[in-house]
Amino acid sequence: MIKFYHFHKIHLKKFTSTNWKRSISSLIQSKNFVGGNWITSGTGETFDVTNPATGNIIGSVPDMTVTEAEKAIREAKTAFASARWSKLTGKERSSLLKKWHTLIEENRNEIADIMTQESGKPISESHGEITYGNSFTEWFAEEARRIYGEVIPPPGPNRELFVLKQPIGVAALITPWNFPLAMITRKAAAALAAGCTVIIKPSEDTPLTALALAKLSEEAGFPNGTINILTTTKAANFGKLFCSSPDVDTISFTGSTEVGKILYRDSSANVKRISLELGGNAPFIVFNSADVEKAVEGSIVSKFRNCGQTCVSANRFFVQDGIYDSFMKALIERVGKLKIGPGLNTDTQIGPLINKNQFDKVKSFVDDASSKSAKILHGGRARKDIGNLFYEPTIVTNINQNMKLYTDEVFGPVISVIKFKTEEEAVIKANDTRRGLAGYFYSQDLSQIFRVAKALQVGMVGINEGLISTAEAPFGGVKESGIGREGSHHGIDEYVEVKYICLGNLKY
Ligand code: SIN
Repeated sequence: MIKFYHFHKIHLKKFTSTNWKRSISSLIQSKNFVGGNWITSGTGETFDVTNPATGNIIGSVPDMTVTEAEKAIREAKTAFASARWSKLTGKERSSLLKKWHTLIEENRNEIADIMTQESGKPISESHGEITYGNSFTEWFAEEARRIYGEVIPPPGPNRELFVLKQPIGVAALITPWNFPLAMITRKAAAALAAGCTVIIKPSEDTPLTALALAKLSEEAGFPNGTINILTTTKAANFGKLFCSSPDVDTISFTGSTEVGKILYRDSSANVKRISLELGGNAPFIVFNSADVEKAVEGSIVSKFRNCGQTCVSANRFFVQDGIYDSFMKALIERVGKLKIGPGLNTDTQIGPLINKNQFDKVKSFVDDASSKSAKILHGGRARKDIGNLFYEPTIVTNINQNMKLYTDEVFGPVISVIKFKTEEEAVIKANDTRRGLAGYFYSQDLSQIFRVAKALQVGMVGINEGLISTAEAPFGGVKESGIGREGSHHGIDEYVEVKYICLGNLKY
């Protein structure tokens, strides 16, 4: 079994229907949560949510328009301003976040089932994501009590200087399908801890996990309007509204670089705060001194987590000539053992891709490379015998700068390998991209470890580790991979304003 979440407990043993606290259907919502009420769309329109493994419809949710989004903004603004949320103490906010955390944990089996059905990810990974995602509610419940200001020594007499950190206001959170729970909690828990109120727009591919979270937040007892969740197929209209509305004070987006750039441009018109977690093109470098077995395990967790549909997944593998043959042999053997299938089968390690667009993209990237000089060493085929969206774990070598597998993020189960000779060559190629989210390398040479860690142009570096995400550490990228950080104590900064206060003419 691959341990995609090695720092988190995986509760697979609890995955039996007799242990469930309530039936799945009570967490599957067909309405949206706005201002403390469950509402439908004014137009009455809905859209279906399908299981990518089977194509079966598993639910349907309201297709909201900007009318409901405007209502959600009003509700969030009222909840922020009228002492219902921003004026609670850190301890009070912390206690509600802790209740939410407990309820998520208590309902993990139902949430995991919903998540696997709508996202296709293996059930063990859904449990891993719940552990990971819920660690943010716990972390920020703790941080809520520690949003310290500063006392600054004044430069002259009879003055005192202070810095306060105040909640920024209403936060619009736009979240992706690849981590339907964790990307919500990583943003929302930080915003709520800081004293902001939130409007969450989940991906249209995975709205049911988001609505289950809304249901549990209602049970936790957050004041009405503090947490609002809207589902829609009209993402672009929502983005425009969030950017232009004077009542939305900050936007946090996780998703494609293309959409991130549009939001960044549109929010500049009124100088709105924005934080962006965008695509990566992570290098994974295996130096001659690497431990082959560990490097292969690191490759598997980094590449195949969520079928490669992860922003921090290794995208380009650079392998040094001295270790190339032994690494490739071990890698092919290991990838050959991966079990592909529907996520609800407990032995599945590779599920389907999320939708047809994503499937077509992965296939076209591999076809593009093999039509040039690349060689497919393993996989490289669709698995239509299992379902329409399954693609084999694949290893492709002889990759170069003219191939999409090198220049773009594949977001699928494909390992693209480039052989190199020198450290300098590997670092130049690793940095040869406008993206800079994560980078990984395997080496046992201490001087090389420091040299390369400093030289990689990324926001996060994994050394002899393929999986580095954790609530305690700052997550975010450089270059076109984003602005701002999530998780860690830095995560709060996205949701506070720094206010300087000068108290003068004191009589000392
Ligand atoms: C992402 O792919 O956007 C998030 C992955 C993580 O938090 O590790």
